[in-house]
Amino acid sequence: MCGIVGYVGDKESAPILVSGLKRLEYRGYDSAGVAVLNQRKLNVVRATGKLRNLENRVVADQPPGNIGIGHTRWATHGRPSDENAHPHTYKDVAVVHNGIIENHLSLKEQLRSRGHVFSSETDSEVFAHLISEELERGLELPDAVRAAIAQVKGTYALAVLTASDPSRIVCTKDASPMVLGLGQGQNFLASDVPALLEHTRDFVYMEEGDLAVITAAAVDIFNRQGQKVNRPTRRIDWTPMMAEKGGHKHFMHKEIWEQPRAVADTLRGRMLLSEGDVHFEGWNLSAEKVRSLTKITILACGTSWHSGVAGKHMIESLARLPVEVELASEFRYRDPIVDGTHLAIAISQSGETADTLAAFKEAKARGATAMAICNVIGSAMTREADFSVLTNAGPEIGVASTKAFTTQLVALFLLAVKLGRMRGTLSVPAAQEHLTQLTKVPKMIEDVLKCEPAVTRVSREYMDSQDFLFLGRGPMHPVALEGALKLKEISYIHAEGYAGGEMKHGPIALIDEKMPVVVIAPKQPHVAYEKIIGNIEEVRARGGKVIAIIDEDDEHVATLADQVIRIPAACALLAPVVATIPLQLLAYHVADLRGNDVDQPRNLAKSVTVE
Ligand code: F6R
Repeated sequence: MCGIVGYVGDKESAPILVSGLKRLEYRGYDSAGVAVLNQRKLNVVRATGKLRNLENRVVADQPPGNIGIGHTRWATHGRPSDENAHPHTYKDVAVVHNGIIENHLSLKEQLRSRGHVFSSETDSEVFAHLISEELERGLELPDAVRAAIAQVKGTYALAVLTASDPSRIVCTKDASPMVLGLGQGQNFLASDVPALLEHTRDFVYMEEGDLAVITAAAVDIFNRQGQKVNRPTRRIDWTPMMAEKGGHKHFMHKEIWEQPRAVADTLRGRMLLSEGDVHFEGWNLSAEKVRSLTKITILACGTSWHSGVAGKHMIESLARLPVEVELASEFRYRDPIVDGTHLAIAISQSGETADTLAAFKEAKARGATAMAICNVIGSAMTREADFSVLTNAGPEIGVASTKAFTTQLVALFLLAVKLGRMRGTLSVPAAQEHLTQLTKVPKMIEDVLKCEPAVTRVSREYMDSQDFLFLGRGPMHPVALEGALKLKEISYIHAEGYAGGEMKHGPIALIDEKMPVVVIAPKQPHVAYEKIIGNIEEVRARGGKVIAIIDEDDEHVATLADQVIRIPAACALLAPVVATIPLQLLAYHVADLRGNDVDQPRNLAKSVTVE
């Protein structure tokens, strides 16, 4: 995610930048920095860790200057460190960047061949080098920025400062957010409105491809074609807290709605459609190693464990390799069978969960190759891993995991395709077909979010229920487990998730007219669909209430269920990503209607670093 701020005016810029960054800390918090210009001298202050570390350094150094840019980082390339913190500088250019440069490796190679030396492991530093070259060629700063972004493939919100042109900041954006704040004799930029609310209420939202030139006196905006444009000014009356939540009532709600973006970021730069392959940066498992694997052991807790169960379906189906999904808290205390032919995959949003970490170390000690699927680079699990796949969901603040889960699912799908290709179980055309399905998922999530009004109606009807049952078969089984966990942790309603076929072995005894049963019944896969219809009949026969999650065009189940929530049809292995969204919304609305503290439910912590 990352957060950006910029200021130009008649005041000292460093304190304004730091206070703006504090309001953006929710966007990332592994390191931060500012660059301010004074009499053509660039002063850069950076610090790893929480923002107060940067604040302490800024208070100590007091870097002078009325123009500056700042950044709070959520690492995607390069571990959290002072060197990897933004702003990045090259010669007299300083940049802050939010986004991902997909072709940074080849750009770095080209720049190195022209004598450039890099001082960080980040993709973002490339911008400072490219812009510096263009300035040396004689371009003005706005044109130099435009020439640099023309060479870059990826997403960006970028702000640039140079000592050779000290009265203006140039910023531009594509797919990452950027707003401009308008003041009297001073102007601002930021990733998000809350950063600037103490200084201004007048904002301009930049559009994709826009480039802005900001001085103390004026803000000029140009579109992708370089034509000067007028973008509307909006007056924002939100409180700072409302603004941090982007106008959503809770962080959880915001994070549910962020999923199209989060999933797209997880996929970005990794799908090689024409080759029918997947690219993971830093992948270090040789083809020989992958072919010699005899088993994958997935280690995780809670929601991450549920994504592991879905991942088992994906990997076994596409790579034909046996997968065991272990509760980390159990695995670590038995005498597990692990050897050097096994791959241990820890799945974790935080990368710090004590049980998962201990189980991961145990598997590694017994000889397994260690891979982490994780949302936090530099976390304990990524440090322990031989190789990590980052989920790129951005910070998750709501205690109930939402976007971390769906990004884990798509990361696992990418991994399944990669392993399938390397093991020869997937042909190029088959892999291409799977990846094509995957490209559709962000849009499908956008579409499924439109079911929110229907979910809200269902939530009102059942908010006072004492118990809920969630049923799913095949790849929908982990979705049922996740739906039940989500509901119980924030609404405090007792809920159970079951594989449909298990209902007759016990839970069916619970069903009466007071029991809502959420049945996840997309038509894919075929067999599971037919069987789950049988489950629906069994529930109806005992007076239970059926809430069915079904494909858009499914008229059959619609005649059987009390309520239906329609979702776009996805292929069997990806349907869990789409089907989970209404269940997140159901848990959210039931909890909110019951007046619960949705973002910080009782007795729970975001990162469980104790046993
Ligand atoms: C539920 C939830 C937890 C976590 C679990 C593991 O909404 O968030 O069940 O999934 O504590 O946490 P991570 O993924 O950080 O290891």
